[in-house]
Amino acid sequence: MAAASRRGAPGSTRRKGEGSISSSSARATHVRTCGPGSAPGGWSLWHATTVTRDDVRVPTAQAYDRVVDEYVRRNTEVPADFARFRAEFAEAVPAGGRIADLGCGPGRDAARFRAAGLRAVGIDASGRMARCALDDGVPVARADIRLVPLRHETLDGIWSAASLLHVPRDEVPDTLRSWWRCLRPGGVLAVSTSMGDHEGWETWPYDPASQASTAGLRRWFVHHRPDALVALLGDAGFAVHLTRERESHRRWVQILASRPGTAPEAHSLARAPR
Ligand SMILES: C[S@@+](CC[C@H](N)C(=O)[O-])C[C@H]1O[C@@H](n2cnc3c(N)ncnc32)[C@H](O)[C@@H]1O
Repeated sequence: MAAASRRGAPGSTRRKGEGSISSSSARATHVRTCGPGSAPGGWSLWHATTVTRDDVRVPTAQAYDRVVDEYVRRNTEVPADFARFRAEFAEAVPAGGRIADLGCGPGRDAARFRAAGLRAVGIDASGRMARCALDDGVPVARADIRLVPLRHETLDGIWSAASLLHVPRDEVPDTLRSWWRCLRPGGVLAVSTSMGDHEGWETWPYDPASQASTAGLRRWFVHHRPDALVALLGDAGFAVHLTRERESHRRWVQILASRPGTAPEAHSLARAPR
């Protein structure tokens, strides 16, 4: 996919410093559906799909565009419990498996999965975040995680760290179904997302010192109650194996789930600690 992105696809526009960018209007974004193919790296573009509701995605992605350097500075090191969750996911995917990091940001986790031998691609709406991941060796598409632009039943795993929290609540069921479709039977889903009830705009809270330069930035946040999210995952067809709560500057829930069915190789979800 990286090679295809660098070349540019028919109908796409490209700006300096950004990866492959689909044509977009205020209300509709045409994202390209990708899947394993003959392009270098084993990924190629194959057809287009349509996503609406850019009202929250665009300002949120623009906020991440503006703070990417600060984001990298503050998030390169991860807490021990997050590292454990990431390792549990990687162990649950078959060796050499194909995975997608949805809302990959600067590609910290996707790069780590690739170093561990997994064939990871990243997807992110922020051009500068996607560029950062690409520069770190992660094949990446600038696209929308609400309708994953990957061929159905091609992934052994989906990793979503702090990205579902930007999907409007009424779009979460369709988003999860999109993720389910991309997984092979037996494929593994790992979600880490913020806990709570609120949905709405939040202004950038990270660093008071940077507030002047990032004034006016806003991101759409959607917090979830663990039991409600587990129910939504069940409705989308997932079997949930593990839920765990943790706390940092927010409260988080980590969930390991899978698309029922037989994995190509036995995976370790059954052994995951609770
Ligand atoms: C909090 S960051 C998490 C980044 C990375 N997963 C991590 O753990 O550091 C959220 C990321 O999701 C991306 N994002 C938000 N909404 C998106 C959407 N609808 N489609 C694709 N990416 C989105 C943002 O651009 C941002 O890079």
